[in-house]
Amino acid sequence: MKFDITVLPGDGIGPEVAAEGVKVLEAVGKRYGHFFKLDYGLIGGVAIDQFGVALTKETLAMCKRCDAVLLGAVGGPKWDDPRAKVRPEDGLLGLRKGLRLFANLRPVKVLPVLIDSTTIKPATIKGIDLIIVRELTGGLYFGKPKKQWQTTRGRKAVDTLSYSEKEIERILRVGFELARSRRKKLTSVDKANVLESSRLWRQIAIELSQDYPDIGLQHMLVDACAMRLIQRPADFDVIVTENMFGDILTDEASMLAGSMGMLPSASLAGIPKAGEKTFGMYEPIHGSAPRRAGQNIANPIAMITSVAMMLRHSFGLIREAETIENAVNDVLEQGYRTYDIMEEGKTQVGTKEMGDMVAERVA
Ligand code: IPM
Ligand code: MG
Repeated sequence: MKFDITVLPGDGIGPEVAAEGVKVLEAVGKRYGHFFKLDYGLIGGVAIDQFGVALTKETLAMCKRCDAVLLGAVGGPKWDDPRAKVRPEDGLLGLRKGLRLFANLRPVKVLPVLIDSTTIKPATIKGIDLIIVRELTGGLYFGKPKKQWQTTRGRKAVDTLSYSEKEIERILRVGFELARSRRKKLTSVDKANVLESSRLWRQIAIELSQDYPDIGLQHMLVDACAMRLIQRPADFDVIVTENMFGDILTDEASMLAGSMGMLPSASLAGIPKAGEKTFGMYEPIHGSAPRRAGQNIANPIAMITSVAMMLRHSFGLIREAETIENAVNDVLEQGYRTYDIMEEGKTQVGTKEMGDMVAERVA
């Protein structure tokens, strides 16, 4: 089969890890007889340098035409001035909104071979297999008003946490559907003891649960969830939450897996159902790590497993996705590590070497 993919490597380590993702994708294509047509575009700081904006209309149009988008990372100190009119992150947010990618899936698994490489006790993280579903196009990131202004008593700023019933319902459905294909436990995370938007969220979750009598729905306040994630993480199956809570909880959850460099993500424009294809954008959850850029040390595994998620969710290529995930596991089992997951007695390798080894095992 033939698939059109837009690749947006971005800033910092983005291009380095994206190259390894593409390497593995091409190995899969060769092995299973698929053709992946790749079109490259600029996003983030590199787009600001070249065009003055983090995402051009042309790049957005290119993404709208293709079957899936693969993204590296955006941002860096060069573009970090808080007074700047444009920032790299605008590119990412513009893509999420422009492509209507409302559902962000961030799975967290602890590979048995990495159980000793995290800062948390092995007994606590044993058996973790959870997925965080983060709402991606609403809440504080996009709510209006959103501004800074001068008053007679000094400067003021406001951000708005706003959600419509429709927005809440569709993301909760993603949570329910995923739970149905897994262990049938859904934790809806909110701050209903304080926020009005959370009280609506919780009400809708309760109403929707009528449609999903087979799913055990549990509500949890976001602060309690942050605590539970390091106290008893293996208890979770699917977590569903609003944009900002999801941003924070997924960084926390990534540490369960040993490193941000291990976690992939999918941002989807529809409700993922087994056997159906959904348009999406795929990216590692880590950032552009400017201090690691250009040194061939970054961990490309999150990018490589993001490619696997693309094959699974946007192209329906389940066997191909599993081939990649197994190849990653094999490389780790054979003792190879990037610096971020390095342990005594293992062999440290660079970005390219890690990509080569995964690609070889896919081929
Ligand atoms: C993420 C990142 C982004 C976010 C930034 C880069 C805008 O932290 O994808 O989690 O906050 O959503
Ligand atoms: Mg984040």
